[in-house]
Amino acid sequence: MNAASRPLDLPDASRRMQLLQLLADGEFHAGEALAKQLGVTRAAVWKLITALREQGINIESHARHGYHFPHAIQLYDAKRIAALLPADLQQRLRRIDTMLMVDSTNQYVLEHPADQTSPAVLCVAEMQSAGRGRRGRSWLAPFGSGVCLSLGYWFDAVPNGFSALSLVVGVALIRALRSLGVTGAQLKWPNDVLWQRRKLAGVLVEMRGEAAGPTHVVIGIGCNLRIPAPTREQLVATQTGVADLYEVLGEQLPDRNLLVATISAELLRCLASFSREGFVAFIHEWQQHDALRNVEVNVLRAEQTVSGLARGISEDGSLLVETPHGIQRFSSAEVSLRAGVS
Ligand code: BTN
Repeated sequence: MNAASRPLDLPDASRRMQLLQLLADGEFHAGEALAKQLGVTRAAVWKLITALREQGINIESHARHGYHFPHAIQLYDAKRIAALLPADLQQRLRRIDTMLMVDSTNQYVLEHPADQTSPAVLCVAEMQSAGRGRRGRSWLAPFGSGVCLSLGYWFDAVPNGFSALSLVVGVALIRALRSLGVTGAQLKWPNDVLWQRRKLAGVLVEMRGEAAGPTHVVIGIGCNLRIPAPTREQLVATQTGVADLYEVLGEQLPDRNLLVATISAELLRCLASFSREGFVAFIHEWQQHDALRNVEVNVLRAEQTVSGLARGISEDGSLLVETPHGIQRFSSAEVSLRAGVS
């Protein structure tokens, strides 16, 4: 049996968090000053710094000035996220769980769902040790480089066009990003968010249980905020093209708590209207942001590749591809652009 998913129980976890909070401003902090603020010895500070570095957190040090992060980072704060949500949406969220490290926020929410009396729970983690992507891939997001969030949600009844849920999430992301000043983001079927044809965010929807009656889904979102150069290189080696919000917005980059609240608010709104009206309420908007429309694509399904012209989506969210044998529909597949961008 797998160990249950929970925030990783690290030695000195609360001291580590306090130290991160002190360093979060991106300024230099002398070891001695940190020791005083934490009420520990300088050697203990050094041990904590070493432990955080071992977790993959990039803390730079300078002989005279002390320690600092390469840039300021707003750590997640459940109270701030809640305060940034409109009151009616706050009431829909049963819990907001923030943590330094977890295996996967999706796994955590699958194991700690809301009860059905208030439909949603939100989980955000500064780092994931086993972040999951679509199709069995992993999701890489070093400390402070992005947002990793999962929203657990109960549908009282399965909405019409339920199989298109992940496309609805794409629309929610486009709305959230636009309200934060990101224009020109597009959707690559089924639900990648692209900017200038490079991947800015990804969505992984997971569910357990029956697809009838009350249904619990976990919607995981990874959004790139400020990807460090080595990670960018690593990602480019495995997938083509990575974008982050820093290159779109520069110093206007939103506070991470605001980003989480904005995405969550749009998700909760979209899920409520998806429940009421089904996918039909989203088709038109999805099509407006379709990055693949009239583009030559390769569609990989069950180890077979079909090539053709992407022609939008059907009423159930399937991808339509025009081939020499007619229009083919794909409800699940991997798509790449024939021009070489995927
Ligand atoms: C993809 O594009 O492949 C989907 C990526 C989804 C990543 C997010 S990060 C938060 C949540 N927890 C996970 O383990 N995965 C999703």
